[in-house]
This record gives sequence, C-alpha cells and structure tokens, in this order.
Amino acid sequence: MNESEAIASPPLTKIPVHVAIIMDGNGRWAAARGLPRLAGHRAGTENLRTIIRACVEFNVKILTIYAFSTENWGRPAEEVEGLMMILEDVIDRELGELHQEGVQLHHIGHLDRLPERLQEKVKRAVELTKDNHRLILNIAWNYGGRDEIVCAIRSIVKDGIPPEEINDELVSRYLFTAGIPDPDLIIRTSGEMRISNFLIWQSAYAEWYITQTLWPDFNREEFYKALQEYSQRERRFGKLSDQGCC
Ligand code: FPP
Repeated sequence: MNESEAIASPPLTKIPVHVAIIMDGNGRWAAARGLPRLAGHRAGTENLRTIIRACVEFNVKILTIYAFSTENWGRPAEEVEGLMMILEDVIDRELGELHQEGVQLHHIGHLDRLPERLQEKVKRAVELTKDNHRLILNIAWNYGGRDEIVCAIRSIVKDGIPPEEINDELVSRYLFTAGIPDPDLIIRTSGEMRISNFLIWQSAYAEWYITQTLWPDFNREEFYKALQEYSQRERRFGKLSDQGCC
C-alpha cells in the first residue's frame, strides 16, 4: 500500500485483541490452477506466514486459526493424511523461527486421534513457546465447537459443580480456550456464510468479516481491509450506543 492510499483509506482506530480465521477456499484455489487439493492446503499454509506477520505488525495479540475440524476426518484419507503431514512439517520447519519471534503456540481441540509422533511434537511446541507473549497463535486442530461444549459439560458434571454455580464465566473456564478472551473479529474467506462449528460459544459477540477472496490469496492488504472494517463497527454487546458500551 502506498502512502496516499493509506491516507485516503479509513484509519485503524481500534485493533481487535483477538482475531479468529476460518481459512476457507484452499481446494477451489487449487482447482482453479489444475492442482491437487493438497497444493491448495500448502499454499494456504504459506499464507499463514503473511498473516502472522501482519498480526504482529498491526498489534493483534491473539490469532486463532481453524485448520482441521472434527468433521474434516470425513474427507478422503489422502487429504486427511496430507493435512497431518503439513502440520508436522510446519512444526519441524517453522517452530524455531516462531519461537524466536515470540509466538506462543496453543492448541485447541483433541490430540488423541492424531498420530502419536505428531501429538508429541504439538505438545513439545506448546511447552517450548509457553512463555512467549508477542502473539498467541491458537491452532484449532481436530476441533469442533459442539464437541468442545459437550466436553465442558461432562467436566462440569464430573467436578460436581452445583447448578446454581454454573454461569457464563464458569462455562468459559471449561472450554479449550480457557483464559483466552473471546474473539473480537472473525474472518471467513471464500465467501461462505456459515459458522461451521467454529468457536460457537466464544463468537457470541464477535464481529464477522466475510470476503470472497480464497484463503491462499488473503494477503496483508486484505487483512488490513478487514481491520479497517472492524474499526468502523460499533460494538454494542446488546446495549445501546449511549450506554458507554463501546
Ligand atoms: C478449508 O478449505 C481449509 C481446510 C479444511 C484446511 C486448512 C488448513 C491449512 C491452511 C493448512 C494447515 C495449517 C497449519 C496450522 C499447519 P477447503 O479445503 O474446504 O477449500 P474448498 O472449500 O475450496 O474446497
């Protein structure tokens, strides 16, 4: 972006603390180029670098990415295995740099269905980076919003919590995202208008930004546009503007 464009466009008057992204459109990106779907996922993974950098540049503190859902197990075995290999490859190749750059890796979802070696790598990556604070990168892998709530209910019951003590704040503490503030902005690429079982509890008051751009093409400028749009939104959390809610 050149200087005059930056001046002409609305300024970033507020920055979301937590941005969550449904990285959709890798398959269509690949198909448009006559490539296999996994080539789209690889291009999407490359694009993550750009967006992680943009988060640091614009001072976004938490980035949650929907990388593998509980429903994605239903895809052809070749694609599922390919995605697992991509995750392993990212940890092997990028962990050192992510750690050096101050990124804290966090996983939401279940690890138990993953190949054992990969489970260990994820755990090690989380442990290694746990004291980093420049950016929290929350990777939703084998994650589903309904599954998360079912697990939370089970744990609440197992812990013998009396019904009168169950409230919003307590439920939040039982989710995979415990301790992480709810997303302020959720971006979905590729134009689909659905939540797809992503952060269904945490998104209660998130602002949505949907773009037709396919995930591998969602670059720094596109991210900036999403932040500009967020800056224009008035968040009322169910109240009125003059109640000092935003
Ligand atoms: C949705 O596009 C994308 C996915 C299901 C996978 C996203 C995964 C990555 C970008 C790579 C893995 C990330 C990490 C952290 C290693 P789609 O396949 O549904 O696209 P389509 O709707 O065009 O078919």
